Amino acid sequence: MSGVSSADYDESLRAFSSAGRAVSRALIFAKEIVHEGMPVVELCERVEGAIRANGCEPGFPTNVSIDSVAAHYTASISDGEVLIPKQAIVKIDAGAHSKGYIADSAITVSFNTQAEALVLAAKNALNAAISVLKVGVTVGEVGAAIEKAIRAQGVSPVVDLSGHTIERYSLHAGVNIANYANRSSHRLTAGTAFAIEPFATFGKGHIKDDREGRIYRGIRRVRSPIKFDQRVLEFAIEERKGMPFTDRWLRNTGSREEVLSSIRRLVRFGGLYEYKVLLESSGGLVSQFEHTIFMATDGPLVVSGREGD
Ligand code: CO
Repeated sequence: MSGVSSADYDESLRAFSSAGRAVSRALIFAKEIVHEGMPVVELCERVEGAIRANGCEPGFPTNVSIDSVAAHYTASISDGEVLIPKQAIVKIDAGAHSKGYIADSAITVSFNTQAEALVLAAKNALNAAISVLKVGVTVGEVGAAIEKAIRAQGVSPVVDLSGHTIERYSLHAGVNIANYANRSSHRLTAGTAFAIEPFATFGKGHIKDDREGRIYRGIRRVRSPIKFDQRVLEFAIEERKGMPFTDRWLRNTGSREEVLSSIRRLVRFGGLYEYKVLLESSGGLVSQFEHTIFMATDGPLVVSGREGD
């Protein structure tokens, strides 16, 4: 654990553990309540409410990505009523943070009876990846375990999406953990936190951006002639400290049009980053499971672990 002081180690272990517990409980709750015909906004807000009820704040807006939408969709105040369709494959990817230490976890709930192998592929891949973890394991070894488990179900890994290291206030902290066999000799050392998130698909396994985004994060203070923009930047940079957010969380600060036009302007000025909605490029259905792991000195700790998973 070179470079990590023991005070930092203890503080981050404690914070990741409480964030992990909150997101784990929120996803157990999500699995109980999600159903065909449910408004997506209701699912997002009840998951975020469960994170708060467990003493944390959302680390990012709840992603509810349906069918061939792979990631980064969340309910927006720009939406009309969007419902979970019949026969949907619903990926619920949620985050909780405690003092900026973010636990990131996802499940797939399928109402599609033709997609059992697809759901199993991502689930088995996450378990296979966890089973090869030890202090100093390479990113290449983890990727190989993921790809093997996905291909065993006759489906493909989404190679353009990957797990990632996590640092305080930084959800994607620099090292990617690819979902396929690769030659990375980067080692996951003690004191490191990271998310493993296998995505499996019936499609080709590539990703394209949708036209628009639903999730943003603050990058820097920029000048704007509009006073309301400073409030949005204040929220993004001071309150969220650069962690992702949704326009829904600004609903009480201004009118719908004020919030949406301010966000659009600040993205254009470079004050905010916009995460585009990500689609499987060949239109294939996508499944996903994810856990956050803290690599303790004596081995991996699945901080978002759920009983019975
Ligand atoms: Co993640």
